[in-house]
Amino acid sequence: MPHIIAPSLLSADFANLQAAVELVDHSAAPWLHLDVMDGVFVPNISFGPPVIKAIRKHTKKVFDVHLMIVEPQKYIEDFRAAGTDRLTVHIEACTHLHRTVQAIKKAGMRAGVALNPHTPVGTLEDIIGDIDLVCLMSVNPGFGGQSFIPNTYRKIMALRELISTRGAHCLIEIDGGVGPDNAAELVGHGADVLVAGNSVFNTADPVAAIAGLNAA
Ligand code: DX5
Ligand code: ZN
Repeated sequence: MPHIIAPSLLSADFANLQAAVELVDHSAAPWLHLDVMDGVFVPNISFGPPVIKAIRKHTKKVFDVHLMIVEPQKYIEDFRAAGTDRLTVHIEACTHLHRTVQAIKKAGMRAGVALNPHTPVGTLEDIIGDIDLVCLMSVNPGFGGQSFIPNTYRKIMALRELISTRGAHCLIEIDGGVGPDNAAELVGHGADVLVAGNSVFNTADPVAAIAGLNAA
């Protein structure tokens, strides 16, 4: 399967989100990655369902929403109503992860689980068969433009092994510090989805940057 590029809107110009969304709409990226931060789970605040609803009108691309919030189970319906296709919650934010995953799927979305850099892949052993995506954080969540943590390569291989052992079907997404220098190596290690913020939006030609990552 060819890998998927998911540009992260976090690095776009928030004063001109429509232009950023239209840019992705005309690019080779099938997904748009939307980072929701609450200032509690992570030390930053970004945007929520009203902004997602507003940009939904400007593209049909898949909305891949990454919740970096506490108590994400409270907002599942709000994100669905805003136009979310895929909803990812952090394992570190969910006491009853299985229940939350089932609620996301019942609401009609694909369910993802994100792991912080220090969280072992083994913690997914008893949920891997129930989820559609694992997001491996390759930076500490909260900000765009941080440096990639190389231990992520080892985690991708461990996750690939777990998926195969369990006969599971979920995608492996890598989020943080992804760019032209490591995209091919990430795909080579088994990544299915590459999130890219800084390496797309902080370049002179974001559409060309997306095309470059797509060809990696
Ligand atoms: C970080 C977010 C990322 C971020 C990635 O907490 O989850 O999606 O936008 O940004 P870059 O690609 O700049 O590291
Ligand atoms: Zn993200």
